[in-house]
Amino acid sequence: MHPKLSLDQESNILGQFIPVHYHYNMLLDEQRMEAFRNAIQSVIRSGMRVVELGGGTGILSFLAARCGAKVWCVERNIELVEVARKAIRSNGFESMITVVHEDATEFIPPEPVDAVICEMLHVGLLREKQAQVIDAFKKNYQARFGDRLPRFLPEASLLTFQLLEYPFLFSGYQVQVPVFQQPTPNQVGIELSELQTYGQVIYDESYPMQFGWSDKVTASQSGHLSAIRFITQNLIAIDTEKQCSYPWPNQFLILPIEEPIPIEEGQEVAVEFCYRAGESLQSLSETIRISKQIHNPSIQSTPRVAA
Ligand SMILES: C[S@@+](CC[C@H](N)C(=O)[O-])C[C@H]1O[C@@H](n2cnc3c(N)ncnc32)[C@H](O)[C@@H]1O
Repeated sequence: MHPKLSLDQESNILGQFIPVHYHYNMLLDEQRMEAFRNAIQSVIRSGMRVVELGGGTGILSFLAARCGAKVWCVERNIELVEVARKAIRSNGFESMITVVHEDATEFIPPEPVDAVICEMLHVGLLREKQAQVIDAFKKNYQARFGDRLPRFLPEASLLTFQLLEYPFLFSGYQVQVPVFQQPTPNQVGIELSELQTYGQVIYDESYPMQFGWSDKVTASQSGHLSAIRFITQNLIAIDTEKQCSYPWPNQFLILPIEEPIPIEEGQEVAVEFCYRAGESLQSLSETIRISKQIHNPSIQSTPRVAA
């Protein structure tokens, strides 16, 4: 949690709170929708019972109900509860989906369920409370129904980063701000290292709430290290029968470094950062330390990433 905010205030900050007029972005994000559509079709069968945590407009609950499931769609923003109830009625699914106005960390379904869908996914598991919400749900569920857990969609998230040369030049104006990129190849920036994995969450197992890195990274090519790019891949479902999976990458996050460092291919760079799941981008930025591993420690530089 942000140190200066109460729980109530925190639930109102952007990321936790996503206004109705932002939801079209998610509905129109075809890469996201395709991954969830395919995953839900591969896992959900007629007669199953499903919970959706953070249902928003109800789109993922609808996809599960369309496969024949009975669904509890849990949403804490009353505006979205109303939007979802209206949309579910007008799509003719009100007998299959119950929209529950409740905090997902407190919700327990009235009977055991087969699957839980939760899309509070943000790069690095930052900003949204995916990790906390699923962890709380598991504890509440097991206290009520025993150890056996339902299947979780997504099944896993893989957290990685790489060193980057990024221009931070916009219409000829240089400014160091966090940048989001579409999660597709050939984005702006020169990759200066391989991807480094710093965290893995498997949602039906116990997982860490704190992530970080404190180790060397070897430069894969020479350049001006000016940023770190965070890349998160989510596996929405794994279909063992068809031997395929339905991945969905979050937008890439690029955090600038105050002083770019020239580095040579093969050179080692010490990188440190740490943050708690669900925290702000700034709380991650503030912990980042980077230093060149050079032989004479008296001329070692330690620039910090801009907050
Ligand atoms: C990224 S949106 C996804 C919405 C919808 N599932 C979709 O896929 O379009 C996350 C949703 O979770 C809701 N949410 C966040 N924290 C919650 C909580 N603790 N309990 C219930 N809903 C929550 C937000 O209001 C938002 O509607």
